[in-house]
Parts: sequence; C-alpha cells; structure tokens
Amino acid sequence: MSATAEATLPLSPELFSERLKAATWRDHENAEYHGFTRALMDGTLPLDGYTAMVAQHYFAYAALEELGSRLADHPVAGRFVRPELLRLPALVRDLEHLLGPAWRDRVSPSLATRTYVARIEQMADHPEGFVAHHYTRYMGDVSGGQFIRRVVAEAHGLGDGHGVSFYVFDRLGSLPKFRADYRARLDALELDEPAAQRLIDETRLAYQLNTEVLADLGRAYCQ
Ligand code: HEM
Repeated sequence: MSATAEATLPLSPELFSERLKAATWRDHENAEYHGFTRALMDGTLPLDGYTAMVAQHYFAYAALEELGSRLADHPVAGRFVRPELLRLPALVRDLEHLLGPAWRDRVSPSLATRTYVARIEQMADHPEGFVAHHYTRYMGDVSGGQFIRRVVAEAHGLGDGHGVSFYVFDRLGSLPKFRADYRARLDALELDEPAAQRLIDETRLAYQLNTEVLADLGRAYCQ
C-alpha cells in the first residue's frame, strides 16, 4: 500500500452513536441553556411552569408512543421500542397529582407542541426519523432528566410517585447500562450514508422542536 493510500484511511472508524452525539451537541446546548431550562435547573421555576411542561410532554409522548406501538415490529424502528420506556402512564399520574382528577380539562397543546406532534406523526413512513425522535427524548430523559428530577423534587417537595414519576425508570434497571445498550443499538443500525445523515438531520430538528416548546413555556413562566 502506498503512503498516500495509507494516509487517506480513517484511523479508527467512528461509531454512529458518537457521530450522532457530536453532530447534534450544539443543538443540545441550545435546548439546555436558555431561560426556561435554566430556571428549571436552578430550582427557580414556579410549580405551575413545571406543570405546564409536564402537560406539553403529555401530548408529545402520546404521539411518540402511539407511533412506537405501530412500529414495534419494524426491523429498524422496532429495535428501540421497549415497554419499560413508556412514559405516558407516568405523565398521567404526574398530571393527576399536579392538577387533580379533572386534569384533562385543564391541559392543551401549545402551537409549538402541535408542530412537534405533527412532525412525529410524519415519521410513520420514515423509520430513521422515528429513531431520531425516540433518541432525542428517551436518551435525554435517562441522562439530563435525572438531574431535573432531583432539582424539581427538592424545589417543590415532590416525591417519586407524586409529580416527577416521568423521570423514574424503575423497570429499566441500571441507567448507565441502558445508555450503553442504546448506543450499541444505534451502532448496529447498518445505515447507508444518506440514511445516517437523515437520522442526524431529524435529530437536529427534534432538538429544535423541543427548544421551541421550551421557549414558549419560558415566555409564559419566566418573564
Ligand atoms: C435541563 C436541561 C438539560 C440538562 C441539564 C441536560 C443534561 C444532559 C447530560 C448531563 C447528558 C449526558 C451527557 C453525556 O453522556 O456525556 C445529556 C444527554 C442527553 N440529553 Fe440532555 N440535558 C438537558 C436538556 C435536554 C433536552 C431538552 C433534550 C432533548 C429534548 C436533551 C436530550 C439529550 C440526549 C438525547 C442526550 C444523550 C446524548 C448521547 O449520549 O448521545 N437534553 N443531557
């Protein structure tokens, strides 16, 4: 092999999970560092602001988990769908606790959430796109979500079953092990380059749609 050919070989093939995280971390930072999430993380967000976020999550996860159940047998998307991850029952419990038994009459999706939900629904025919939305939410919930749970529980005196059960993954086992397993599933996807790029692009969009939802909430609760 000539020196030139050798020089063009990649030193180590990049794992897709690493590529995905690197290509989208700027978007994560945009979601993480703005008014609403700052207030959430420093414990200054009023309880009604937190409750409004839980309500918006309810509509997004209803769409995501409905689509997940339809794609459960899909060879690509189905690899990520696991009953232990489902968040809708926990969101219902949290809303019952935070808003009372008539909570359904007191919540509605914001415009930003309706836009996000519409995009999730469009992924029915785009399995990589579904994986992008799945990754953006669930990997976030088992990562930074665990910090949010602690701060909110402490700031508002909420317990695991009472208002923050959305962040409790008690059927999942070790969260670090889950994250490693999730990355291994991403790495095993065998995507061609256009499909890999579509998954990355859709993840960036998923972050932006989430950031819009949070920005809306920030305008309402952090002025
Ligand atoms: C309150 C603000 C947030 C904090 C403090 C936070 C914090 C974190 C931390 C510490 C990690 C682990 C990083 C690592 O493994 O090196 C993480 C990962 C992640 N977060 Fe967040 N996050 C926040 C908001 C969000 C939002 C709004 C989303 C998306 C809607 C999100 C999605 C993700 C995802 C998908 C990962 C996994 C990245 C990977 O390992 O591939 N996060 N976050």
